[in-house]
Amino acid sequence: MKPDLMVELAGLKLSNPILTASGTFGFGLEYEPYVNLRELGAVVIKSVTLNPRQGNPPPRVTETPAGMLNSVGLQNPGLAAVSEYYVPELKRRKVKVFASVAGETIEEYGRVAYSLAEAGVDAIEVNVSCPNVAAGGLAFGSDPDTTAAVTARVRAAVGNLPVFIKLGVMGGDVVEIAGAAAAAGASGFSLINTLPGLAIDVRARRPVLGNITGGLSGPAIKPVALWAVWRVYKELRLPIIGMGGITCVQDVIEFLLCGATAVAVGTGNFINPGLTVELINGLERALAAEGISGVSELVGAAHVER
Ligand SMILES: Cc1cc2nc3c(=O)[nH]c(=O)nc-3n(C[C@H](O)[C@H](O)[C@H](O)COP(=O)(O)O)c2cc1C
Repeated sequence: MKPDLMVELAGLKLSNPILTASGTFGFGLEYEPYVNLRELGAVVIKSVTLNPRQGNPPPRVTETPAGMLNSVGLQNPGLAAVSEYYVPELKRRKVKVFASVAGETIEEYGRVAYSLAEAGVDAIEVNVSCPNVAAGGLAFGSDPDTTAAVTARVRAAVGNLPVFIKLGVMGGDVVEIAGAAAAAGASGFSLINTLPGLAIDVRARRPVLGNITGGLSGPAIKPVALWAVWRVYKELRLPIIGMGGITCVQDVIEFLLCGATAVAVGTGNFINPGLTVELINGLERALAAEGISGVSELVGAAHVER
């Protein structure tokens, strides 16, 4: 029998648990030469701010052992372009859309989330963990009270729409911050954002990145991400979108076993732009080979009482 890849994520039915990680898949349309977007569980778009942002000075990406550093700095075309062009284009293609929201003030998060909800997105992801911006981002997600305030503002702006709070592990205890967000109305969490890092150009005797520091992603961070998913699932039992270094089906299964209901592919898209769809097909084959009836059988299954 064909295994059931469908998952229910905070009340949303997704055809499979494979999503895209914000900022690594543009607004989806850029990947159409490689991926039939409708096959994805959902497209999580690049973080959107009220006004267009140019991002940080170049160079903005560099490879590292088992990963990469980026300091893009939330470059995006701004709310109007996304809500009036990209979201309608994705909805026209019947793609499930999760909109990642960012801002420099709590009010900005609320305004952006409201308009994207009006534009018809299926869920909101709240980026309070970007390490590459001076205001908002990690500065908000490092503090339980501010995270709760952003969550409450976004919740008030979008009514019953699922709201996922995206956290990293550098802003304090991830369970405490997630708990504060849960109490303020979060539906679930996206774990994890990048870790801070630095690369040095020895010849120039300078940092490689124009912004000096960047965010580390890719397989190098997978154990950290699994750890965060494990802890938040264990303590809060709310839906989790797991991400950090996913490049193969085994990685997907590891995240599910730790407690993620869905996963997102980030840096892996840069190595193989068709990876998401390969993972969907590979997951189906792997479950069939193991006689597993559906994805939900795996979620949190590694948690045994000791
Ligand atoms: C180039 C790049 C840009 C990113 N931009 C965003 C962003 O705009 N918003 C966000 O929440 N996360 C952003 N991220 C973080 C990813 O969504 C993801 O959390 C992180 O890279 C870990 O997953 P990975 O190891 O599969 O890449 C970005 C990551 C990269 C590599």
